[in-house]
Amino acid sequence: MVAAECAPYAKVGGLGDVVAGLAKQLAVSGHDARVLLPLYRGIERQRHGLRYRQNVCVHGAGGRERWAGVWEGRLDDTLPVWLLDYGAYFDRAGLYDENNREYADNAERFGFLSKAALQVCKDLAFIPDVMHVHDWPTAPTAALLKTWDRRLSPLSATASVLTIHNIGYQGVAPRAGFAYLGLGDDWFNSHVCEDHGRFNMLKLGVFFADAVTTVSPTHAGEILSADGGRGLAPYLQWKRGDVFGILNGADYSQWSPATDPLIPANYDARRLVGKQDCRRALQQRLGLTVSDAPIISLVSRFAVQKGLYLVRNCLEQALRELPFQWVIIGSGDPALEKYFGELPGRYPGQVGSYIGYHNELSHWAQAGGDFFLVPSLYEPCGLTQIYALKYGALPIVRATGGLRDTVVNYNNAADSDGTGFVFWDATPSALLGTLRWVADTWWNRHDQLARLRQNAMAKDFSWAQPAREYLKVYDHASRARRALLERES
Ligand code: ADP
Ligand code: GLC
Repeated sequence: MVAAECAPYAKVGGLGDVVAGLAKQLAVSGHDARVLLPLYRGIERQRHGLRYRQNVCVHGAGGRERWAGVWEGRLDDTLPVWLLDYGAYFDRAGLYDENNREYADNAERFGFLSKAALQVCKDLAFIPDVMHVHDWPTAPTAALLKTWDRRLSPLSATASVLTIHNIGYQGVAPRAGFAYLGLGDDWFNSHVCEDHGRFNMLKLGVFFADAVTTVSPTHAGEILSADGGRGLAPYLQWKRGDVFGILNGADYSQWSPATDPLIPANYDARRLVGKQDCRRALQQRLGLTVSDAPIISLVSRFAVQKGLYLVRNCLEQALRELPFQWVIIGSGDPALEKYFGELPGRYPGQVGSYIGYHNELSHWAQAGGDFFLVPSLYEPCGLTQIYALKYGALPIVRATGGLRDTVVNYNNAADSDGTGFVFWDATPSALLGTLRWVADTWWNRHDQLARLRQNAMAKDFSWAQPAREYLKVYDHASRARRALLERES
């Protein structure tokens, strides 16, 4: 796996969880999986027990040599993780951006990582059957595998699988970012990677990868449609036989209330008393009134995708009318940071918020929440609602992408197999209507909520099943790669 994130080393969103969870599951199933990611400034070598392996030479366009160090760590003491040490690109405060401004040289930074991936494998004599690359930052690896020293390369039979976690971010950069890869100008055309005169890194990966996946079955359909494909639908359509949707798994070694070391008390579906302790602790920590009032938690990047303006535009009405307390954790959009940051001052005891990234608090919000809101405009998979099911915080979600595939809508019947609440329209009034429905259920059918909680906590989204599906895709990609080699030889 070549990726920009891998928990716990570096994580901004779900990508970090998924790379770690899938790689660990592949190792558990007996496969020789390894992960390569950048050695960012935030990764402490000592804390993670990293040891230096060797230097590798990465050739840029025009033959320019750049030397980078390779460090090695272990995930769960077993899975080898390689970290690429190149200070000029990665010794920075952020992964992709700083103060909400993307680094101007991201195409070069991640182009470098994408290229180094091949060199690291070659120099460390690890020749994988498949290189699994993730999102725009490492999509170029798929192109380099098919073009780099083709007949001489020990990686000529290595297949590539590109997983699109978020098609809303395509890595569109000035043309210089393409030149940096040294692929040859012939490839800079609109079928391959040109995008209105600029270089589109994700598009390049889509063109070259032997298989493309995205992170839920519903979203696989969405990205093939004009709206959902964000400009890439025609190119994905063109290879639709190689496009697959595989639902993300959850890493329950990190995200299970029965064992989670970060939360105030452990609990499971049979012994829920611990959840009451978690509720109280969360109320105290965030300055909420300690009471039986139902808590709605929300933990999210404040990005357009996440639908937070729907919340902002109905929240105060809900605060006046409905019984909920609110816990809001996240960062991003400065206007939303200001709004949600100031809300506890305006509604003391009723709203608690934390503006920033806080892993422990995100676990507390799951454990202490009665409900968990994910109102996304689009959501390739979404992990927080999957975790919320296990923590017995009933998800309230919009019917899009992976949210659709993971939450079963409550239907007001005593034997409902529901696990949460689903709304359809991306409007504040649709969200408010559903919040009223949740409150009505809280007031008038409280016993049915207990049933929903049992349904939710019984759901199993562990990595075993998705890992089996990825293995099938790896096979598909390998066969495609070998067939192409035969045709070319
Ligand atoms: P995305 O990858 O689009 O951000 P996901 O739901 O797949 O959405 O994953 C989000 C992950 O990031 C979850 O593990 C969530 O708990 C975590 N997360 C998001 N915002 C924060 C935050 N402010 N503090 C801590 N963790 C966060
Ligand atoms: C992306 C998506 C999210 C998905 C995550 C991991 O960031 O926004 O829906 O769960 O990647 O695949």
